[in-house]
Amino acid sequence: MDPVRLKQNFALVGANGMDVAEYFYADLFERDPALRGLFPSALAKQQEKLLAALSHIVGLVDDTPELVPFLQDLGRRHNGFGVVAGNYPTVGASLLATLAHFSGPEWNEELERDWTAAYQLVAQVMQEAAGLGNGAGSRA
Ligand code: HEM
Repeated sequence: MDPVRLKQNFALVGANGMDVAEYFYADLFERDPALRGLFPSALAKQQEKLLAALSHIVGLVDDTPELVPFLQDLGRRHNGFGVVAGNYPTVGASLLATLAHFSGPEWNEELERDWTAAYQLVAQVMQEAAGLGNGAGSRA
């Protein structure tokens, strides 16, 4: 995984502002309509929180001592939101689809590999902290 490549790609994607989060949630609720009910009806605040968290995570992707406790807290907070292990791959698929969409012609296999590996790590640390099993690959 190349942290510089991830950061550059996230900067490119993030330049599209709230459109990114809107696209992500639209894709997520199309993949699994049951997830809509977990979120508040007005999504604007959630969209901002998601983008802020993602940009914090990407900024710390090469700083494990800072990143891990942040992800553990985030994962534990998700316990209260009705999230189960099986939701993590769905969210990962929507995240990848969103990044690919906004990367346009810049998207390639290396980025896909890097983002997949990064998301799996993030999801694993969050799920372990939440007591949802051993993370990547687990199903609920
Ligand atoms: C990379 C992984 C994820 C990130 C960065 C992320 C980020 C966030 C953030 C920042 C919040 C705001 C609340 C807080 O900070 O505690 C939040 C809330 C929430 N997330 Fe996630 N999340 C992730 C994975 C997931 C997954 C897999 C699901 C499953 C559907 C999910 C569903 C929710 C729900 C339902 C809320 C609460 C909405 C509300 O009631 O306000 N998240 N998430």
